[in-house]
Amino acid sequence: MKIGIDKIGFYIPHLYVDMNKLAVSRNVEPEKFTIGIGQEKMAVPPITQDPVTLAANAALEILDEKDKKEIDFVIFGTESGIDSSKSAAVYVHDLLDINPYARAIEVKQACYGTTAGIQMAKGHIALNPESKVLVLGSDIARYGLNTSGEATQGAGAVALVISANPSILELEDQSVYFTTDIMDFWRPIYSDKAFVDGKLSNEQYIAFFSKVWEQYKTKTGLELKDFEAICYHLPYTKMGLKALRTVLDEGTEDVKDRLMENYKISARYNRNVGNIYTGSLYLSFLSLLARKEDLDADSRIGLFSYGSGAVGEFFTGLLQADYREHLHVENHIKLFSARKEITVAEYEEIFQETLPTDGSTIELDIDNDPATICLAGMADNKRQYVNKTK
Ligand code: CAA
Repeated sequence: MKIGIDKIGFYIPHLYVDMNKLAVSRNVEPEKFTIGIGQEKMAVPPITQDPVTLAANAALEILDEKDKKEIDFVIFGTESGIDSSKSAAVYVHDLLDINPYARAIEVKQACYGTTAGIQMAKGHIALNPESKVLVLGSDIARYGLNTSGEATQGAGAVALVISANPSILELEDQSVYFTTDIMDFWRPIYSDKAFVDGKLSNEQYIAFFSKVWEQYKTKTGLELKDFEAICYHLPYTKMGLKALRTVLDEGTEDVKDRLMENYKISARYNRNVGNIYTGSLYLSFLSLLARKEDLDADSRIGLFSYGSGAVGEFFTGLLQADYREHLHVENHIKLFSARKEITVAEYEEIFQETLPTDGSTIELDIDNDPATICLAGMADNKRQYVNKTK
């Protein structure tokens, strides 16, 4: 039985900062951000968007009434969870009116959470071929104003439906995963910003890719030439490029050109959004499928997932015939073109806005947020969500 990605969508906040302007205000040469880091625009979430609303808006784009009846498992990958107890999946389950006879849980391992969710979903479908699983990956990447990580912030979510006989990508069974305890990036529960050892994180990302890639080749007998494209977790777009370059010499000139061209296409959405942590790999995968029009059915796509701390995994899938008919490319274009640029000063102000932590009531202005699902306020330490269509 084929199991894999039947639907995929994403959501990003409607505000962004131009990286050239951020560089100027930080006294950095713009090329450091646009070439050295590889980012053009950084998505900025208003206070009316949090990981729950970003994920719910992403799922809204792809789910129909039939899906909502058939989904019996909602898995929410995030490392910016809003509650240490209740899972973000339960809120999304309610906001989207998903079948009540469903499981709803949150999964955490830094940027690896969505991959863990997808593999769990695959096992669930193997046991329950009639069901569908909604996997969400949603995060707000925060390092702080004037930090070296600032240029790699971002916000957004992806939503995937995993099912039998998928329309987009059949997940292959062979995969290699690897875990080691390292402190390259972490966020203690008392902090709303991540701590990072930038140099170590870059080194470990490459080291993990190398470990799982070598082991994958040994285990499967496959080689670089067997891949149409390799998509990477993209904390910033230069990072995946650095990892790809470590293996390119294993291919002929044609293979190198193909992988390099497809890498650039796969990084396009991420260049304009920034890091969305656990959704980043899947935003990159979606960028490839949406922006490259001539990928053949049965093309093999490699996926490298990396979650600091750290867990890495290399796995693969085969594109399904007519996969492009199941994307929502027009919606992607609208979402990007409807965004509004804000100044660095406006971004700094939004960045420092906080919700009450003393149980007091706050009502937020959701009329200025074009998203369908918004955070409308807080009362009694409870977040108040609104689905404007309900
Ligand atoms: N023109 C062109 N390039 C320039 C330039 C210029 N004028 N000035 C500098 N550069 C280049 C540098 O040469 C460098 O390129 P290489 O990496 O290819 O050598 C690049 O710009 C970045 O410069 P620095 O290394 O000096 O940058 P930095 O130390 O200020 O910060 C960073 C870079 C470490 C990535 C930092 O942004 C950071 O800590 N980010 C968060 C952590 C992160 O994203 N780590 C990635 C792996 S961990 C992971 O993947 C999990 C996750 O999601 C967090």
